Amino acid sequence: MTMLIKNIKSLVNIDYETRKWAAGKDMQRLNTIEDAYLLITDDQIADFGKMCDFDKNDFSGEVIDATGKMVFPSFCDSHTHLVYAGSREIEYGDKIRGLSYEEIAERGGGILNSAKLLHNTSEDSLYEQALERINEIIGLGTGAVEIKSGYGLTVEDELKMLRVIRRLKETTPITIKSTFLGAHAVPSEYKGRQDEYVDSIINEMIPVIAVDELADYIDVFCDKGFFTVEQTDRILMAGMKYGMRPKIHANELDYSGGIQVGVKYNALSVDHLEFTGDEEIEALLGSETIPTLLPGAAFFLGMIDPPVRKMIDAGLPVALASDYNPGSSPSGDMKFVMSLGTIKLRMLPEEVINATTINSAYAMGLSDELGSIAKGKRANVFITKDIPTYDFMPYAYTTNLIDTVILNGKLIS
Ligand code: NIG
Ligand code: FE
Repeated sequence: MTMLIKNIKSLVNIDYETRKWAAGKDMQRLNTIEDAYLLITDDQIADFGKMCDFDKNDFSGEVIDATGKMVFPSFCDSHTHLVYAGSREIEYGDKIRGLSYEEIAERGGGILNSAKLLHNTSEDSLYEQALERINEIIGLGTGAVEIKSGYGLTVEDELKMLRVIRRLKETTPITIKSTFLGAHAVPSEYKGRQDEYVDSIINEMIPVIAVDELADYIDVFCDKGFFTVEQTDRILMAGMKYGMRPKIHANELDYSGGIQVGVKYNALSVDHLEFTGDEEIEALLGSETIPTLLPGAAFFLGMIDPPVRKMIDAGLPVALASDYNPGSSPSGDMKFVMSLGTIKLRMLPEEVINATTINSAYAMGLSDELGSIAKGKRANVFITKDIPTYDFMPYAYTTNLIDTVILNGKLIS
């Protein structure tokens, strides 16, 4: 199976050599080819270049004419909770009236509310609901997504969520990574006995999840009012014994020590990071842990913005993800995440493109397969509508500019 996309106005984010991420000043670098072609063989990018250098005039595969349009590598959304039951607009009024995330959680709302709903939802219905969201984000240009558990909070319900994620892996064309997040919140029956819940994560949940190989990564919500550094330490150590690399929620609500404990355990990413100071930046420098910002959640909750310019100026790579979930970010639109990155965080268009492709691919362990246009990489790309420049993507912040989606070398829509 071969496919040729010809007359591409601009082929965006090309890698001529392998790179694991774009860091510091390199986040501003974006290789493009104007008036380009892209050749796909089976599920891989086989070749690309300028139209005038295209020499296979006897080409006989599928041809797409992209005159006026651009081709991007698909977005990689490295942090979502998109397997959930129902929605939580019931809390929306409280939120708008000014209740904080923690206050809503303390009232038994928030994550515990979702856990109750999920418990009363069948596995098939959970799958159907999540499938709808997967199809939605595919249409919005996402080609790889990480999905967390964490609305189960019991052995049975965490397994139910992780089985749904596995079924999505098996039945959808998008690339999926799964993360076990038993330490998302403390269930009410463990109130005042938080350490016993941590024991249950370590002794009951992790071993059975590992036997069935249901999780690629392990996560902990290491923050004020949720899990402490000591508890995070114990959970990460236990997960790593079973081969689950950490990817953790940290420093969203306070200087929680989450970034440092993440780096200590060689986390693939530490995510949120609204509360990041010099010490945290120092800890990240030289590590293999990518700081990941979730501007959709910060926007929805009215949080302070993380010091992204300071991070990039210090030489760090930064990834952006959607955090798609019913409580703090009911959207998986990565193009809008780019807009928030530019408008709210003052990142440059080139920086947000790198942050939502190659860097977020790294944040889910996929930067050698996805996240840029490179020979041998998986052909997950989208073709835009007619647009004047790539800056137009984050600039036109609510217009759907995704025209055609190609995943694994196949035309999806
Ligand atoms: O990433 N911060 C923790 N967890 C999610 C929110 C989940 C929820 O409220 O349902 C987040 O924002
Ligand atoms: Fe999250």
